[in-house]
Amino acid sequence: MTGLLPCPIVILTGAGVSKESGLDTFRDRDGVWARVRLEDVATPEGFARDPALVQAFYNDRRRGLLDPSCLPNPAHEALARLEREWPDEVLIVTQNIDDLHERAGSRQLIHMHGELTKARCLDCGAVLDWRADLGESDGCPACATVGTLRPHIVWFGEIPLEMERIQDALSTCGLFLSIGTSGNVYPAAGFVRQARFEGAAHTVELNLEPSLGATLFEESLYGPASEVVPAYVERLLGAVAGR
Ligand code: APR
Ligand code: ZN
Repeated sequence: MTGLLPCPIVILTGAGVSKESGLDTFRDRDGVWARVRLEDVATPEGFARDPALVQAFYNDRRRGLLDPSCLPNPAHEALARLEREWPDEVLIVTQNIDDLHERAGSRQLIHMHGELTKARCLDCGAVLDWRADLGESDGCPACATVGTLRPHIVWFGEIPLEMERIQDALSTCGLFLSIGTSGNVYPAAGFVRQARFEGAAHTVELNLEPSLGATLFEESLYGPASEVVPAYVERLLGAVAGR
């Protein structure tokens, strides 16, 4: 416990936390899956069928992320502030492949679906920082093979990253927050059930609207992340300081 609050805190984030930074969500009306079939660009089969299409899809999203106008928003900043106030008590598990949590200052972070600013070599397995366009003429800096680099993204049907570390965190968390996710995709959508089963003292959903798992949360706050997340963090910090 830190002060009055049940720690450690595990925070699951989804695309909604980055929406106000200019990055599209997936299942809103204007979302990514309204424009492109996930089977074509977010599955190993799609990549095998047409690697150039998949590389172009992620190159476009990587350029959008690295555009100077794409910056962390007050929600990312509030979560980074929470970690600064309670070092070692806050872990973000993000489904997002952007680096806005890092740019806001969060350090205790797991990217369970991979990272847009990384590439992975199918030949030697190396995971490399990659901020340029990626294509079949690129060589792996680790093993020098050409044409074996793919986006370091977990596609549908693949195993999310660092699941053991996530399970450990859920087994001891006191407060579980879910921010900006629709609750459509497992295993992330099941984390709230697991946190409750493992004895979390409190579970809270912060979202624009009720997610599919809304009824599983003891508390919910609805509104744009850039408003509800700073307000909630302020409340948490105030509760401890007795403010
Ligand atoms: N503030 C807060 N929440 C928002 C905002 C906002 N400004 N805008 C949208 N949202 C909410 C939506 O209401 C929705 O519940 O964010 C959620 C986004 O849901 P999805 O688009 O389904 O994104 P996400 O839940 O992160 O998807 C999970 O699915 O396609 C895969 O790998 C992909 O990581 C992704 C996973
Ligand atoms: Zn290699």
